[in-house]
Amino acid sequence: MNLKADLTLRELADTAGLPIGVAVNVDRLSKDAEYGNVIAKHFNMCVAENQFKPAAIWKGEDKYDFVLADYLASFARQHGMLLRGHTLLWHESVPAWLRDGGYSSESVASMLREYIHCVVGRYRGQMVQWDVVNEAISDEPGNHLRDTFWLKMLGPNYLHKVFEWAHEADPEVSLYYNDYEAEAGPKSDAVYNLVSELLRSGVPIHGVGMQCHFENGWRLNQETVDNVSRIEALGLQWQATETDVRMWLDGQPATTEQLANQALAYGDLTNLCLSHPGCAGLLFWGVSDAHSWIPGFRKGWGAPLPLDEAYRPKPAYSAVSQSLLSRVIAA
Ligand code: G3I
Repeated sequence: MNLKADLTLRELADTAGLPIGVAVNVDRLSKDAEYGNVIAKHFNMCVAENQFKPAAIWKGEDKYDFVLADYLASFARQHGMLLRGHTLLWHESVPAWLRDGGYSSESVASMLREYIHCVVGRYRGQMVQWDVVNEAISDEPGNHLRDTFWLKMLGPNYLHKVFEWAHEADPEVSLYYNDYEAEAGPKSDAVYNLVSELLRSGVPIHGVGMQCHFENGWRLNQETVDNVSRIEALGLQWQATETDVRMWLDGQPATTEQLANQALAYGDLTNLCLSHPGCAGLLFWGVSDAHSWIPGFRKGWGAPLPLDEAYRPKPAYSAVSQSLLSRVIAA
């Protein structure tokens, strides 16, 4: 095979057959041409960081705002990129008018069904995956469902209902349950138990999203390999949906050692995806270090992505590329 030098992640991902995606701030995308060029150059899949969430779309009873969501869908089509949806249900994205509106459980259920049908139906034929439910599992020991507006309103079987409604609206799209710390440890057991129960009940679920928000120093271990293998043994896909590897910076630039360490984590995760047929993609949660949620939400931490603040590829970018290149050469 003839390969040109300096292939982008996107070119390598296309050749290796592993979607490599990115979370996009669609508001920025609509105003910043360079940001759009970088996305289309390096990635072959995209997801909106915020603009497909209910709080962004669902503005009132029968009142939906699709301006930014449509913008990303159109950008993805124009640039031949896969589109992933995040998310139909999340306790942190309940529209205030709905939460505080004094609606009965029956009305909430009926409006939510309508909402899911409308949103999923709108992108039918283009959307390849939806995160149907995000972060429904409690962090408390015992791994129960998190105590949320949705649990209160819709009852303990609410996941069954929302997956079914999404499936009614688009029988072809892959439906995911998405969570953090789903890669290994107690939350991964809880996720495994939850999706196993959904499958036993005949719920249309097709994948598990593992957010992969790591701290620098993360390395692939046997527990993570076993976890993705047991998800695959259920017949489900899985995906690294929100990858970032944050560094402790405390106001200082990243050191060479930190960057090298981060590259090892990104390389490990890419190798995990490539060595497991159930891996449907590897997505980064932000385009560059300038656009990550980390510095704003985790004080003192930063530089978590493969492109630096000036869109220059970091050692992490080279590690993902190397891993993809090895796959392409071995094929
Ligand atoms: O758009 C407004 C802007 O007009 C306003 O001036 C500014 C002032 O705070 O807020 C802006 O909205 C913020 C939005 O991000 C866009 O930047 C919201 O306050 C802020 O809450 C929102 O945070 C997002 C967070 O989810 C909550 O929705 C982060 O960008 C986004 O990275 C984060 O993503 C989540 C995933 O959905 C689920 N997994 C964890 C992940 C990280 O928390």
